[in-house]
Formats: sequence, C-alpha cells, structure tokens
Amino acid sequence: MTTARVVRLRAFGGPEAMEIVEETLPPAAEGQAELRQTAVGFNFIDIYQRKGTYPLPLPTGLGHEAAGVVEAVGPGVTAVRPGDRVAYINAGIGAYADRRVVAADRLVKIPDGLSDEAAAAVIFKGMTAQYLLRRTHRVAPGDVVLVHAAAGGVGLILSRWAKALGATVVGAVGSAGKRAIALEAGCDHVVVTAEPDWPDAMLAATGGRKARVVYDSVGRDTFLKSLDCARPFGLVVVYGAASGPAPAIDPELLNKKGCLFLTRPSVFPHNADPADLRANAAELFAAIAAGAVEPHVGARFALDEVAAAHRAVEARRTVGATVLVP
Ligand SMILES: NC(=O)c1ccc[n+]([C@@H]2O[C@H](COP(=O)([O-])OP(=O)(O)OC[C@H]3O[C@@H](n4cnc5c(N)ncnc54)[C@H](OP(=O)(O)O)[C@@H]3O)[C@@H](O)[C@H]2O)c1
Repeated sequence: MTTARVVRLRAFGGPEAMEIVEETLPPAAEGQAELRQTAVGFNFIDIYQRKGTYPLPLPTGLGHEAAGVVEAVGPGVTAVRPGDRVAYINAGIGAYADRRVVAADRLVKIPDGLSDEAAAAVIFKGMTAQYLLRRTHRVAPGDVVLVHAAAGGVGLILSRWAKALGATVVGAVGSAGKRAIALEAGCDHVVVTAEPDWPDAMLAATGGRKARVVYDSVGRDTFLKSLDCARPFGLVVVYGAASGPAPAIDPELLNKKGCLFLTRPSVFPHNADPADLRANAAELFAAIAAGAVEPHVGARFALDEVAAAHRAVEARRTVGATVLVP
C-alpha cells in the first residue's frame, strides 16, 4: 500500500493552520495516473484558500500545480506512461503532497531542458500569462501595458512575454527594492505603488501615454488608480486580490474614465477542456523555447516548511515564483 505525505487544512486560518499528514494513496483508477511529485508550485490563490477568502469545503488539501514523474497509470491511459516527466494545473485542489493520483488528461509532458522545479514554477503562472496576453487581450506591438506586482511570480512572466510581443511595458512594484528585478524582466519603466502619485509617474515615464491594457492582480489597494492608467476604450483586467478584493464600482465610472472595459478572468475555465489545456501549454512551452518566458524560481522551501513559504509570500518578501520541494 502506497502512502503519501499531504498538507491538510481543517480550519481556515494563518499559516499554522496547515498540517502535514500521511494518507493512503488509492491506486490509479481508469483514466488516472499516480505521480511522485518532485516540485510543487506555490500560487497566491493558496493563501486565499487557506484563509477562507475563497472558501472551500473542509477539511481540504491545498495547491493547484506540481511537477513529477508518472509512477503508474490506470486502465485506458495511453497519453502518458510510467517514467514520463509531467506537470499539471487544474487537476483539483491538493497539489501540496509528495505523491498524488490525478486525472491523466490534466497532465502535460515537461519538455526536455526544462527542470521539474522550473516547470512547477512556470505552468500555473505561465498559463495565466498565456490567456491574459493572448486571449483576454491579444497584446500587439505598440501597446502600452501596465503590469502590477511585476516582480512577482505571474508578474515577471507577464512583463517579459509582453515585451517580447512588442509592447511598451510599465511594471508596478510595491517597493523600490523590486525595481531592478522588474527592469531585468523587460519592463521599460517601473513605478512604485508605495508612492501615492504612481499613476502620474507612469504618465511621466511614457510621455503621457496611458495603457491599452492594465493587468491588476493587487485589487483593493490599486484598482481605482488602475482605472486612471487606462487609455480611453482601454481594458482593465482584475485577475487577483493580493491586497484584498477590488472595491465594487458603479458601471458609470467606466464611462467617466473613458468608456473602459473591465473584466475579472481566471486561469481555470481557460484550461478546463483538455484540448485547450494542451494547446495553451504548447504555446507556453514555445514561448519558453523562444526566450519570451523564463522560469524564475525566487525561493524554494521543503514541503515541511510550507508555513514559512506562505509567510514569505504574504509579507511580500519573495520575487518570482516560490516552489515547495517534497
Ligand atoms: N485569475 C487568475 O487566473 C490568476 C492566476 C494566477 C495568479 N493570479 C493572481 O496573480 C497574482 C500573483 O500571483 P503569484 O502567485 O504570482 O503571487 P506573487 O505575485 O508572487 O505575490 C503577490 C504579490 O502581490 C503584491 N502585493 C500587493 N499587495 C499585497 C499584499 N497586501 N499582500 C501580499 N502581496 C501583495 C506583492 O508584490 P509587491 O510587493 O511588488 O506589491 C506580492 O509579491 C495574485 O493576485 C494571484 O491571485 C490570478
């Protein structure tokens, strides 16, 4: 009988609410694969779900992304076989574990040359960047793009990829210490949101040009000012709430700010269909091969140190992606 070490949450709360337990792993059933996970991607949604901001039925596992090796497959599985290096998103919650059984149609093979850690750092965040840059708005040369939390996991990928697509990229970071890393990722300009007049700083940097698209993952602290940074008929994409949910607004405000468009998308529906998942992953892997996306592991923690990982990200101490190593 195989056992797995998994993170369990019995009550919403702080990082200490997570505990590591041993559980019996069921054998892979029809359509499933058993994985030995070598790297688990940390994502900010894990914090919302641990705290209950996005409530889940309890008790629950946590985590949405991991990389590893296929150990066994159930009946009917032909797309992967034992020994394959694979990664997944959208396979149901519970990626914080050293072993796991998942639906095989959620798996993508990791290309040669991409380490397991790099894959775990880039699949969820890169697939997010993929839909934001290629579907929510198809970024084109000449677009001015504003990327919030530009030195973070998704933010670094978005910035570099938007630059490769020909955009003028303005990165917004919470503190001056993160400026250099955002510039290194390809941002043409960086503004620091701790400075209250940061929208003016953006306009000064771009010669008065507002953004064709604003990617705001910070929410409460930045949303209203983000509306001031979008050009007439521009698009404001609220795709996260790192500082808390964006305030509710009267739709009339979008008119006053310049007939803006506003959307709140998620990576999950974009990758719900296995064919979409494979196509989106192929586009991401092509962007990695072309150098438009560079996996960046900013911090790694043992799975046993999962609480420390959560504390570091919540305290805004990390840059790039954070990976848990089982
Ligand atoms: N909708 C989707 O499909 C989707 C998918 C993936 C991720 N997301 C969202 O994208 C964002 C980035 O995710 P990530 O995993 O890559 O995390 P991350 O960017 O590595 O970490 C979050 C960053 O948000 C900024 N931040 C601003 N206010 C904060 C606060 N009060 N507390 C903590 N952080 C704050 C910090 O950067 P500064 O210090 O520079 O401000 C921090 O580094 C998150 O909001 C996440 O929910 C959305």
